Amino acid sequence: MEQKGKITHPRDIEYFKQYPEPIMEALQKEHFTNINTTISYYGPMLYFIARAMGAEQVLEIGHAEGYTGFYLANAVKDNGQRFGMKGNMYYGIDIVQTNRVRECFQTWNLPATIINMDSMTLPGPLKDIKFDLIFQDGCHEATWQGGNRLSEILGCHVAFPPRRRC
Ligand SMILES: C[S@@+](CC[C@H](N)C(=O)[O-])C[C@H]1O[C@@H](n2cnc3c(N)ncnc32)[C@H](O)[C@@H]1O
Repeated sequence: MEQKGKITHPRDIEYFKQYPEPIMEALQKEHFTNINTTISYYGPMLYFIARAMGAEQVLEIGHAEGYTGFYLANAVKDNGQRFGMKGNMYYGIDIVQTNRVRECFQTWNLPATIINMDSMTLPGPLKDIKFDLIFQDGCHEATWQGGNRLSEILGCHVAFPPRRRC
């Protein structure tokens, strides 16, 4: 039976048939999107980086259909459960697909705040949040001009090395 909010597609089946990757397939099986075939391992990679960092507040600039966002949101959720962190949150902004992605994250019960927002207008409502990790996949011209100052603009700190709590 089709799960509510699931973005259904036959392509994962085709992808893993062509490129058998049991570990990746097991991870991706939980997801509501199709695998991103150009960067198939980015999602899990981001999940594990965010877990290793003990990230609590994560921002993704350009969540698109929610492929990487799903892994990042699960990471902050799992960090919260594992280390007793309160208020962990994944923030995703984009200028497209926001309603659909918000609905999917809600259905999957993930701690996510999805905002329809142009990165040119950052930090906007996110100005008081100290982000542990900011991920931007793709060049957003105006943001990128200030890309080197992104942490300054957002007032973020990137917690590295790990600050895992026991
Ligand atoms: C390459 S996609 C991101 C893919 C995503 N990381 C994933 O794997 O699912 C880039 C996204 O950035 C968004 N984007 C481009 N310019 C933007 C801007 N100025 N503000 C916000 N989002 C923007 C696009 O709409 C697109 O969804």
